[in-house]
Amino acid sequence: MLVSAREMLEKARDGKYAVGQFNINNLEWTKSILQTAEELKSPVILGVSEGAGKYMTGYKTVVGMVNGMLEEMKITVPVALHLDHGSYEGCLKCIEAGFSSVMFDGSHYPIEENVAKTTELVKICKEKGLSIEAEVGSIGGEEDGVVGMGECADPNECKAIADLGIDFLAAGIGNIHGKYPANWKGLSFETLAAVKEKVGDMPLVLHGGTGIPADMIKKAISLGVAKINVNTECQLSFADATRKYIEAGKDLQGKGFDPRKLLAPGAEAIKATVKEKMELFGSVGKA
Ligand code: 13P
Repeated sequence: MLVSAREMLEKARDGKYAVGQFNINNLEWTKSILQTAEELKSPVILGVSEGAGKYMTGYKTVVGMVNGMLEEMKITVPVALHLDHGSYEGCLKCIEAGFSSVMFDGSHYPIEENVAKTTELVKICKEKGLSIEAEVGSIGGEEDGVVGMGECADPNECKAIADLGIDFLAAGIGNIHGKYPANWKGLSFETLAAVKEKVGDMPLVLHGGTGIPADMIKKAISLGVAKINVNTECQLSFADATRKYIEAGKDLQGKGFDPRKLLAPGAEAIKATVKEKMELFGSVGKA
């Protein structure tokens, strides 16, 4: 059964480790992530962007697929199904479809509007037992065609949003989605510490988990980060393994590739990436 991400992140915060959010795009990704979480006895969050939700034909399909896998694969570790960077309307749809967690990304609204919309969604999520994440200070890089500027969050705005009753907060600290440029200045631990000072016990979320050096990840966790999002790294390892398989030319004597065999190396590559991250984040054995 899907669970809210609240309890697993509170435990992570107390235990000084982080739970990985791995984004899913299709059946193979979902299966690989769930298999790895179960093998390593790690809690896990499956992230779904609005674009990925649309690709999979809609949120109800995603909920059906994930619930089916939890049962058929006999998954025992805590799994949350979470909307990643949701719009207000997207959050409502996911709540309706059976997600167990949503992120409302109101970071592009003026703070008053972000507050108003977050307040409404918090109320609905509380009633239905879902967890809710909010964002302050837009995360840079590209996500579903939207390019953010990448900023450091204002700690006072973080406090204003945290006080609305959300379960965890994504605060921009110089992190960006996708690969980090060569001239990246690194995470702003000053901002992270200032945010933590204002929001107290609230578990913090680090987006853009791909390509952040291990020592920075560990320091962020020690300063209150309890959830780390990873997408691009899975994409890169999946694409690389699939390309190698095709280049090796193992097709069915000119009749094309067996689709299950074609996607198997990519699925194995995702498992390896997820394992590496779970070990780095310290969530192995914490289920
Ligand atoms: P990366 O694609 O950089 O790993 O970031 C993922 C993310 O933050 C999704 O919200």
